[in-house]
Amino acid sequence: MKESEKVSWEQGRCTAQQGRLQSQKLMVWLMLLVSITYMVYTLKLVSVSTSTSSTCKQGPLIMKHVVSSNGTEWAEGSSRQYFRSGKGKRREKTELRHVVFGIAASSKLWEHRKNYIKIWYKKDKMRGVVWLDDRVKTDPNEGLPQTKVSTDTSNFVYTNKLGHRSAIRISRIVSETLRMGLKDVRWFVMGDDDTVFVTDNLLRILNKYDHNQMYYIGSLSESHLQNIFFSYGMAYGGGGFAISYPLAKALHKMQDRCIQRYPSLYGSDDRMQACMSELGVPLTKEIGFHQYDVYGNLFGLLAAHPVTPLVSLHHLDVVEPIFPNATRVEALQRLAIPMKLDSASLIQQSICYDKQRRWTISVSWGFAVQIFRGIFTQREMEMPSRTFLNWYRRADYTAYAFNTRPVSRNPCQKPFVFYFSKAKYNSTLQQSVTEYDRHLVPNPECRWQMADPATIDKIEVHKQRDPHLWDRAPRRNCCRLMKTNKTGIMKIDVAVCRDGEFSEPSN
Ligand SMILES: *[C@@H]1O[C@H](CO)[C@@H](O)[C@H](O)[C@H]1NC(C)=O
Ligand SMILES: *[C@@H]1O[C@H](CO)[C@@H](O)[C@H](O)[C@H]1NC(C)=O
Ligand SMILES: *[C@@H]1O[C@H](CO)[C@@H](O)[C@H](O)[C@H]1NC(C)=O
Ligand SMILES: *[C@@H]1O[C@H](CO)[C@@H](O)[C@H](O)[C@H]1NC(C)=O
Repeated sequence: MKESEKVSWEQGRCTAQQGRLQSQKLMVWLMLLVSITYMVYTLKLVSVSTSTSSTCKQGPLIMKHVVSSNGTEWAEGSSRQYFRSGKGKRREKTELRHVVFGIAASSKLWEHRKNYIKIWYKKDKMRGVVWLDDRVKTDPNEGLPQTKVSTDTSNFVYTNKLGHRSAIRISRIVSETLRMGLKDVRWFVMGDDDTVFVTDNLLRILNKYDHNQMYYIGSLSESHLQNIFFSYGMAYGGGGFAISYPLAKALHKMQDRCIQRYPSLYGSDDRMQACMSELGVPLTKEIGFHQYDVYGNLFGLLAAHPVTPLVSLHHLDVVEPIFPNATRVEALQRLAIPMKLDSASLIQQSICYDKQRRWTISVSWGFAVQIFRGIFTQREMEMPSRTFLNWYRRADYTAYAFNTRPVSRNPCQKPFVFYFSKAKYNSTLQQSVTEYDRHLVPNPECRWQMADPATIDKIEVHKQRDPHLWDRAPRRNCCRLMKTNKTGIMKIDVAVCRDGEFSEPSN
């Protein structure tokens, strides 16, 4: 082990020296390349800007199609909502009716797991099929997707000692769903029976991509080791992934032969990735899909979500309920309230300061608000705190493929947590007021001479609904303290940052 490490290190140094010699030559080439690119680009820019300016003149920022007299269709408003396709064909926004969900389930766990599907699935607006290993009792009034028993796969070879051969059945769900011949399908979206989708945000992601091309969209595991064992190029099935129609079609033609070439793989998603690799289609990473390969409390991850829409949550049976004093299903039902009001902003973080009392306040909209004594910088607060354990049930910060921060041991730095309890919505103004109640756990004694956040019982967050949040460049919202005379209540306004505004940590 040591020897081989040394060898590879020496080799590394060698190439570094050669690299230095070559770098001068490279610089000359690079400068040449840059100047040529610049010339080409300026020429192109001129032609692009003329064509866009004519689109912009079309009128007010309302989403609608305008058919000009010569039959060319134009998309008005945000250019990300519509694209013009090459052949002059209309390309409308992808809606739920264009998506078919393929849900991997087992008959044994169905009675319990179906409750997770009920949280997000809307039978009248969505199409979906639950693929099972055996028949289950169904009741059409439950509003669940139709159930189907997967075709027999016992003639496929499965040689992995650790896994289960149901992986083969599950990896064929996309192909089997495609063969049902449903009309007007643009995307097949895979998930497990313990995956909860935020479907509005799923659409926001899918609308970034052209469904007429081959896309494989999803995300990795939180666990660095899992990603090494499986692949850093694999969409983890529990977090869910999307496959565009043309890719599903190409896959179904070759998948059964492909699967036979990988009998030793562990799961369904690595089989899928192997076939994607044969088709030459890489994973398009969208980090709002969450596999959540962790144990314990998701709090740290949900309180500091990356600046991207929340698309899915998974492993909900593995982690603790996301709200205290609630069952897992009840907790998710509670999260569904803000999800309905302002899905784009769900669990989006904003960070601000109470300058007088010297507190740092972190809002995860619709989930929780934290008050910390003292001033923490934004770059600290945007890192998830390690309230969870890794996939091997250890507290190990090297285990993750992203930055985390430790839970502070200083008794004064233990945050005061307020969990979402209820919401009011004014539909005329499109404004929500979400309420967060303090989690009543004893905070350790603190000797710092400063205001005690325990005097606050309730936090109100005022926010304008913002369905176009993700049509703009990603940016955290700003939060501001509002004046209030009521004792025990803190009022916070969360909104798009004003021109020149940002949250400055004061000393
Ligand atoms: C069609 O109409 C649009 C908008 O009026 C115009 O910009 C475009 O050049 C026309 N295309 C053709 C082929 O005439
Ligand atoms: C937990 O929930 C129950 C029932 O909803 C409620 O009666 C009880 O007061 C709650 N306990 C805490 C500590 O919030
Ligand atoms: C919404 O706000 C407006 C303006 O403040 C108010 O007149 C209206 O009564 C509110 N509607 C609801 C349902 O609270
Ligand atoms: C708070 O109280 C002061 C003095 O009693 C009063 O003038 C002010 O209008 C109140 N502000 C709010 C927001 O209620």
